[in-house]
Amino acid sequence: MPQRVLITAGAAGIGREFARAFTAAGAKVFVCDIDTHALEAIAKEIPGLLTRPCDMARRAEIEAMVGDAVARLGGLDVLINNAGIAGMTLPVADYPPDDWDKVIAVNLTGMFDVTRLAIPHLKQSAAGVIINMSSIAGRYGFANRSPYAATKWGVIGFTKTLAMELGEWGIRANAIAPGAVEGDRIERVFAGRAQISGKTMEEVRAEAMAAQSIKAMIDPKDIAALAVFLASDAAKSISGQVLPIDNDRQRA
Ligand SMILES: NC(=O)c1ccc[n+]([C@@H]2O[C@H](COP(=O)([O-])OP(=O)(O)OC[C@H]3O[C@@H](n4cnc5c(N)ncnc54)[C@H](O)[C@@H]3O)[C@@H](O)[C@H]2O)c1
Repeated sequence: MPQRVLITAGAAGIGREFARAFTAAGAKVFVCDIDTHALEAIAKEIPGLLTRPCDMARRAEIEAMVGDAVARLGGLDVLINNAGIAGMTLPVADYPPDDWDKVIAVNLTGMFDVTRLAIPHLKQSAAGVIINMSSIAGRYGFANRSPYAATKWGVIGFTKTLAMELGEWGIRANAIAPGAVEGDRIERVFAGRAQISGKTMEEVRAEAMAAQSIKAMIDPKDIAALAVFLASDAAKSISGQVLPIDNDRQRA
């Protein structure tokens, strides 16, 4: 039977690579996202892909989405908690509380809600898997990115707790912690850093590369390949772990 996979915020970015890679590996995939145009585009690109709009900051929408996903997939084997927003680039004293709340809502509370609703279905699976997106910001402090760093550290605590609670049912939970990934989002993050520091984009990019042993950005396809491996039987003994994929980043 094909793996039944739910990916949150999977219409673009790394989530879209997850959808492509799991589909190519023969899985049945359901993707939700806040961006309905991006959902239409990915549904056209990947025949058979199941989609539904969902704002990961809204509990009622998440509740309806998980029910729909499980019904249309016919059960659930793999949950990929990919949704995560970057927030603003500002020091704590200047950080707008409303934006703090939004980052916590999407990155942490949304992950909690999807996961708690998915667990009863994962328990029915022969080999349930949870993959949570953390970040390099979950391994180091990140100046001017306080809610992002706090949530990405939180994701690791959540993941390790899930692994302990669910091992009894043969469910594995791991976190992936990417470094700077190629794409629009990292360009926006670099722009925020340039603005607050008065440095040029080139200087900010050079600083990021100087912090890595391998001087390159991360290919999102490699993150998707790691997720396919983590969801496979070959990873049956890997749980409660944080897997960095960051060109050996040594600092924030
Ligand atoms: N891009 C990076 O450099 C990087 C590095 C480390 C970790 N991550 C993590 O990987 C995950 C995916 O990141 P990405 O760069 O692909 O993201 P992205 O900014 O490209 O966005 C991916 C998708 O999230 C959707 N989205 C945004 N807000 C949403 C909401 N409230 N509800 C539902 N969907 C929403 C967007 O519409 C988009 O389709 C995140 O958890 C992120 O923190 C990214």
